[in-house]
Amino acid sequence: MFSANTYAARRAELCRRIGKGLILLPGNMPSPNNYPNNAYYFRQDSTFLYFFGLNMPSFVGVIDAETGEATLYGDDFTVDDIIWTGPQPAVAELGAQVGVSKTAPLSELAPAMRKAVAMNRRVHYLPPYRGESKMLISSLLGLGIDMLHEHKSIDLMFAVAEMREVKSDEEIEQLEDAFLIGYEMHTAAMKMCREGVIEREIAGHIEGISKSMGLGVSFPPIVSQHGETLHNLNSEGVLENGRLLLVDCGGENLMNYISDHTRTYPVSGKFTTKQREIYEIVLAAHDHIAKIVRPEMMYMTDVHRAAYLSLAEGLRSVGLINGSAEDAVEAGAMTMFMPHGLGHGIGLDVHDCENIGERSFDFSQVAERAAQSATCIHRATWRLRKGSVLSDEPGIYFIPALIDKCRAEGKYAGIVNYDLLESYRDFGGIRIEDDLLVTEGGCRIIGSKKIPVTVEELEAFMAR
Ligand code: GLY
Ligand code: MN
Repeated sequence: MFSANTYAARRAELCRRIGKGLILLPGNMPSPNNYPNNAYYFRQDSTFLYFFGLNMPSFVGVIDAETGEATLYGDDFTVDDIIWTGPQPAVAELGAQVGVSKTAPLSELAPAMRKAVAMNRRVHYLPPYRGESKMLISSLLGLGIDMLHEHKSIDLMFAVAEMREVKSDEEIEQLEDAFLIGYEMHTAAMKMCREGVIEREIAGHIEGISKSMGLGVSFPPIVSQHGETLHNLNSEGVLENGRLLLVDCGGENLMNYISDHTRTYPVSGKFTTKQREIYEIVLAAHDHIAKIVRPEMMYMTDVHRAAYLSLAEGLRSVGLINGSAEDAVEAGAMTMFMPHGLGHGIGLDVHDCENIGERSFDFSQVAERAAQSATCIHRATWRLRKGSVLSDEPGIYFIPALIDKCRAEGKYAGIVNYDLLESYRDFGGIRIEDDLLVTEGGCRIIGSKKIPVTVEELEAFMAR
């Protein structure tokens, strides 16, 4: 946990930005897997963590934006709780650890909310993403579940996303720590990668590393020779020489900060000429982005477009694209080779703050605009600032179903060399990902070590 002052200062800043009403920030509750006492691994809500710091279930934070007073609602453990889960400090003690002097049992939350609603005070809340939180907010505020979207606080969404986006020095230290978990996971996967190994064996091993070093994985690891499937959670394949293995994984450290990296490498430990050609194109785009990202750039629009242009140049050089890179990007041809955005925020969450919403707050409009601009779905469009952390994860994917669809529809005719593309049908996909911290005049890749990434580094590492 950070110091009580850190959380108190964040809450004070939030009040300054919101100004009026109450701010309701529910922590997460246990989420049952198959019966109430067998819950999924607990994951705290990241916004609750950011303002109240406590990584334990069934707490709710309320902040009065006018007085600045924060109340932590939660129940002291009973003997029954202690018997099953062990002792836990009293709520008053937990509150003191995060600078909150006013605590109350959960039974007092509903009356407090009812009183605020009766007084016509605005109760700000973020769009909830879990069933339990939806039901809680719905019952506290007397709003039907279907009304929650309409009444969410856009002011709070902006304030929280803008605050969480800019990482403080102490948060950056935590991200550096989370990197070390990712480093161990990725290098372990590289060491295990050889013909005959089942992808699942690697996935299980690296998940074990994340649990032994921290709080587990930051998302289910992607370990697959079918890298062309963007989020491929099927790891049943048996590794074969001649194919590429894509590993996209990260860990969560003891303070809930995360890492997210992708590496793609040959099972045999040696790239073929064709694999190397495509790999170098993706790596060039990755490196280009890591060179140009700086404060004030628009993420993703500018950054994403720069990655597309770099990839298109590369695809031109191997004859998969005709004409200029600009024309290929403008025509939307790159959405066939990389049908995802260049990256996302990194912080307490992988895809940091995406649960809070698109910055435009209307995903359908974002998607429509992106389709019109022939680029891709821009998850978020925001201006980078010193302290922003984002993933840089370009890729080239040969997705037979998508290629066939585009060809059948006559898309990108004259731009994409479909005949040559046929010879890449069973190539798979390559993605390379690191996490970037925006600095004063540019950016740097997070990490005190380097996960092998160049062809030479990967081949040398795998030959060991
Ligand atoms: N690394 C998983 C993702 O970016 O969605
Ligand atoms: Mn990622």
